[in-house]
Amino acid sequence: MLRNDQLSQWDQDHFFHASTHLGQFARGEIPNRIITGGEGVYITDRDDNTFLDAFAGLYCVNVGYGRHEISDAIAAQANELSYYHSYVGHGTEASITLAKMIIDRAPESMSRVYFGLSGSDANETNIKLAWYYNNVLGRPAKKKIISRWRGYHGSGLITGSLTGLELFHKKFDLPLNNILHTEAPYYYHRADRSLSEQAFSTYCAEKLEAMILEEGPDTIAAFIGEPLLGTGGLIPPPEGYWAAIQAVLKEYDIMLIADEVVTGFGRLGSAFGSTHYAMQPDIMTIAKGLTSAYAPLSGSIVSDKVWQVLEAGTDEFGPFGHGWTYSAHPICVAAGVANLTLIDKLDLVSNAKHTGAYLNKAMKAALSDHPNVGDIRGDGMLCAVELVARKDEPRFFDPAQKTAPSVVAAMLRRGVIARAMPQGDIIGFAPPLCLSESEADTIVAATQASVEEVLGKRSP
Ligand SMILES: Cc1ncc(COP(=O)(O)O)c(C=O)c1O
Repeated sequence: MLRNDQLSQWDQDHFFHASTHLGQFARGEIPNRIITGGEGVYITDRDDNTFLDAFAGLYCVNVGYGRHEISDAIAAQANELSYYHSYVGHGTEASITLAKMIIDRAPESMSRVYFGLSGSDANETNIKLAWYYNNVLGRPAKKKIISRWRGYHGSGLITGSLTGLELFHKKFDLPLNNILHTEAPYYYHRADRSLSEQAFSTYCAEKLEAMILEEGPDTIAAFIGEPLLGTGGLIPPPEGYWAAIQAVLKEYDIMLIADEVVTGFGRLGSAFGSTHYAMQPDIMTIAKGLTSAYAPLSGSIVSDKVWQVLEAGTDEFGPFGHGWTYSAHPICVAAGVANLTLIDKLDLVSNAKHTGAYLNKAMKAALSDHPNVGDIRGDGMLCAVELVARKDEPRFFDPAQKTAPSVVAAMLRRGVIARAMPQGDIIGFAPPLCLSESEADTIVAATQASVEEVLGKRSP
């Protein structure tokens, strides 16, 4: 238990927090929250408050907190061999085993795994792979990457550019050149309300094709997308979306990068989002659920088609000049092996499917009729509640009113952590995959009571 009374002051004075309003924090206008422990789906702060973490950290603690199977594996690896690199053919038993475990779970076309440390650096690797691939194939102009508005792919230079959220661009001089954004597959926000889901998917594919033709197909290397749009609003793809998009990519020989940082390893109740939505990616990005965040680890899974070109490239141009000191760090890959073993042992992919369906159904039963709840959507162990000023049209709240953040703050007072998604009044839920039905009931009850506290039972 932390009992250092100076901690809050040191925090305010010296700790540069991620994704935080720095001025408000430094002035003490945002309370600091010092977390001391976690068990199952609950975390505890240093004042001994306990919260049900309905967002699994940043949708990453998929097996739940306090799993000794993983912490013991980390300790054992640290005692035996805390570090060795993976350059020039080096590896460890854990790195090789984990690569095999990932390929065993991935779509059949996948062949090799390159390990990084974060979703951001894995996507950085992926863009370099797409560029290298086209250079080896003698297509040096084929370099632009198409992402989507509301996509989230990290916050580095290239990956922050790929991200299609205003907050991550504003005042950072992003996006960089050669990164393009196309229509978000956001059916609830479609401009033409008369479109069916399938017709909206066709519209998205047509917009993509128009962009490709305008830029020139020979200049487009890859399309990157999350199987289910995550941080941009927890938006499942509309009916027929991936089939329509993939038909366009195939037509113009454009690589598909499936960013599975959130969806990989069971969150949708399937091994991967790609299998869940019948996608055939050339490269897949993994992170979060790979170790359930017990240690930082990410990966780029490369299909055999891409791998053959990479191999041929090194035969022609020499060793592959890409690597991090901590690629395949032994402690992190040991955590990955223990985590995937635990997911299988506890059958968490199946629990994500069944308890996730229960959570989504219960949320709809409790809140669909509320006049300010416009949309409740989800898939597997993901759920979102979108708040609106009026349901018809629909009409959205002014962001300055901070409606979703107020509801999320009210939920926190009830001991449940949800996430106000960064763009729009969307309350996000992504609990650990081990959630039980009674814990799902607790989440729903806190959401309903908090929506009613902030917005009343009826619209004004
Ligand atoms: C789909 C997706 N890709 C990439 C990232 C970036 O991962 P990281 O924060 O580990 O860099 C995230 C993070 O939330 C994500 O959701």
